Amino acid sequence: MSLDIRNVTKVFPGPRRGFFAKSEGFTALDDVSLTVKKGASFGLVGESGSGKTTLTRCILRLENLTSGSILFDGADIHRLPPQEMRRLRSRLQIVFQDPYASLDPRMTIHDIVAEPLVIHSDSVNMTARQRTERVVELLLQVGLRSEHLFRYPHEFSGGQRQRIGIARALAVGPELLILDEPTSALDVSVQAEVLNLLHRLQTELGLTYFFISHDLGVIRYICDEVAVIYRGKLVEQGQVAEIFDFPKSEYTRMLLDAMPDPDPDRSPFRRAG
Ligand SMILES: Nc1ncnc2c1ncn2[C@@H]1O[C@H](COP(=O)(O)OP(=O)(O)OP(=O)(O)O)[C@@H](O)[C@H]1O
Ligand SMILES: [Mg+2]
Repeated sequence: MSLDIRNVTKVFPGPRRGFFAKSEGFTALDDVSLTVKKGASFGLVGESGSGKTTLTRCILRLENLTSGSILFDGADIHRLPPQEMRRLRSRLQIVFQDPYASLDPRMTIHDIVAEPLVIHSDSVNMTARQRTERVVELLLQVGLRSEHLFRYPHEFSGGQRQRIGIARALAVGPELLILDEPTSALDVSVQAEVLNLLHRLQTELGLTYFFISHDLGVIRYICDEVAVIYRGKLVEQGQVAEIFDFPKSEYTRMLLDAMPDPDPDRSPFRRAG
């Protein structure tokens, strides 16, 4: 498995200025290329509006590309026939930023976590009972308990909700997780807990992460490689340690200077052990 983003450009049509005038368009991604290798934890960091979520939406094929291509395991995502796209979607799951908005308030935790198993029932063939067992297993894996099974999202804290979102993303046994600011909506203390969980899950399950954040501290904690995006363009990429110690671009240096505490040993996101 690898995710190859090749020269991806995305231009959103701008407002029309007049009946005959051509609209300017807004370039949200400008010739972006990066490769996420199997087992890696690849970070994408950049400030708000730099194009991070647009890239996620392009990977999930929620947006068309203006040019370039995105390959998953060598297959061009934007050219796959619907049947194969469905199969691929079970191998690639996403955890969203906002655990309040991303869970359906009318569904029980059981149904939320089981839903991908139902959607992908052609590839994951399970009886209702097996699905429930799988949901319980997933809840335990993310640090929740089986008595939470038939509760509703409003009965949970933000951190717990994000654990539910993670359980749901893991349900069908994906290879690649796209995490779009998975902890940005959480309090700092809760952020550290959820990051610890994500870090542990990656090792335990041998997952590949494409981890998006505006926070270099979070990236440093979780990722081994990183690409820095600024106004839709990658300004540098490489090993996390290298980029933290020897940033090449002015922009990365500025991001580093803006970090509240550059010492990872004193960061709340430090790795245990
Ligand atoms: N459908 C759209 N039409 C026009 N412009 C859009 C559209 N979607 C996003 N944009 C613009 O593209 C730019 C990048 O947005 P994007 O959501 O990818 O940023 P981001 O890096 O995810 O930011 P944040 O950290 O705030 O989530 C923004 O300027 C945004 O206004
Ligand atoms: Mg975003």
